[in-house]
Amino acid sequence: MNSPSLRYAVIGMGGVAQVHLNQISAQAGVTVVGLSDPTDPAGWRVPAAHAGVPRFQDTEQMLRETRPDLVSICTPNKFHHDLTLLALRHGAHVSCEKPLAMTVAEAESMEAARSAAGRLGGINFSYRNVAAFRFARELIAAGELGRIQRVNTVYLQSFLGAAATLYSWRNDVALAGFGALGDLGVHMIDGVRFVTGLEYRRVVGLAQTLLPEKPDATGRLRPATTDTNAAFLAELTGGVVATFETTQVAPGYGNFFRIELSGERGTLAVHSDHPEELWLRAGATLTRYATWKTDIPLQQLPTEFLGRGAPPTPGAIVPAIRGEKVDFPTFADGLKAQRVLGALLDSMRTGAWQAVGS
Ligand SMILES: NC(=O)c1ccc[n+]([C@@H]2O[C@H](COP(=O)([O-])OP(=O)(O)OC[C@H]3O[C@@H](n4cnc5c(N)ncnc54)[C@H](O)[C@@H]3O)[C@@H](O)[C@H]2O)c1
Repeated sequence: MNSPSLRYAVIGMGGVAQVHLNQISAQAGVTVVGLSDPTDPAGWRVPAAHAGVPRFQDTEQMLRETRPDLVSICTPNKFHHDLTLLALRHGAHVSCEKPLAMTVAEAESMEAARSAAGRLGGINFSYRNVAAFRFARELIAAGELGRIQRVNTVYLQSFLGAAATLYSWRNDVALAGFGALGDLGVHMIDGVRFVTGLEYRRVVGLAQTLLPEKPDATGRLRPATTDTNAAFLAELTGGVVATFETTQVAPGYGNFFRIELSGERGTLAVHSDHPEELWLRAGATLTRYATWKTDIPLQQLPTEFLGRGAPPTPGAIVPAIRGEKVDFPTFADGLKAQRVLGALLDSMRTGAWQAVGS
């Protein structure tokens, strides 16, 4: 069956734009019609396959002249809200990067505008693509682990602490809104929701900036105003206790994202470095008696499960636009995660637990 042609454009031509361009243009019947970024187009990182696509330094002009059906928003977080509203006003569906916005109010306004425009909104919660995360979600949804009793999540990186990493928008709270909390924490918040199917009731947390300043490209030291470390506690549906820790400055850690949890009948862990494996000890026979062993075995995911594949995020919005029934993380998911982030900021200000709104 021939898919109707879908006109596609990207806003913000930095690192993550390549992922959007590659995944979305790989879908049948997608034509890339424009790329935009206020900086000099000669410096953009455009994959060779899209080298000939028209480049614009004015996003409004690009939207007007190229009339895309779908745009990706791959800019620093501060611009997600206004660019989403602009793209919706030009009639486009939107695939936005995470975190959805700087504040809960902005995220609510994006979801309201999307709904009023009758367009789809996706958010790139990319760990929903990891096979182990999806397999764990299926096991839990099928009740194989019984009622979830505890969750522990860590997401550790080192890149901001590295001397070679120069000052960027990620160090500026006015452009990023958050540091580790919004960059990595938001993946943890969504990852736990996705795997367990549980929602957030209330949270309490702490964040700190361990990196006072960074040199910019000219060698000038600039103050860093975003958090580098955060830890928080959440109460999930049914009173389940979940713990979280994230940092961007833990030497030796590249991209270590792990969710470990126990249900009544088993314990499992998923890890970003092991996308096709998971640690699992489960089943009534295995757990009837307590065991002294603490080395939960690492298991290969069944080939049959791996063969099934999954619509990739952010690409899955394309079949959804065409009316196919496909699972992809939406603005509503982005808004839920934003509400958790918002409650965490409130808790850090007040030192008290904060309810997560719905
Ligand atoms: N889903 C993921 O796992 C993942 C991974 C990396 C980044 N991200 C997210 O992607 C976004 C971008 O991150 P990045 O690493 O690509 O940053 P980056 O600095 O590499 O690129 C950002 C680009 O946006 C451009 N830009 C700035 N303001 C703009 C505007 N008003 N209009 C158009 N373009 C503008 C910049 O010139 C730059 O080219 C952030 O929201 C980040 O959180 C998500």
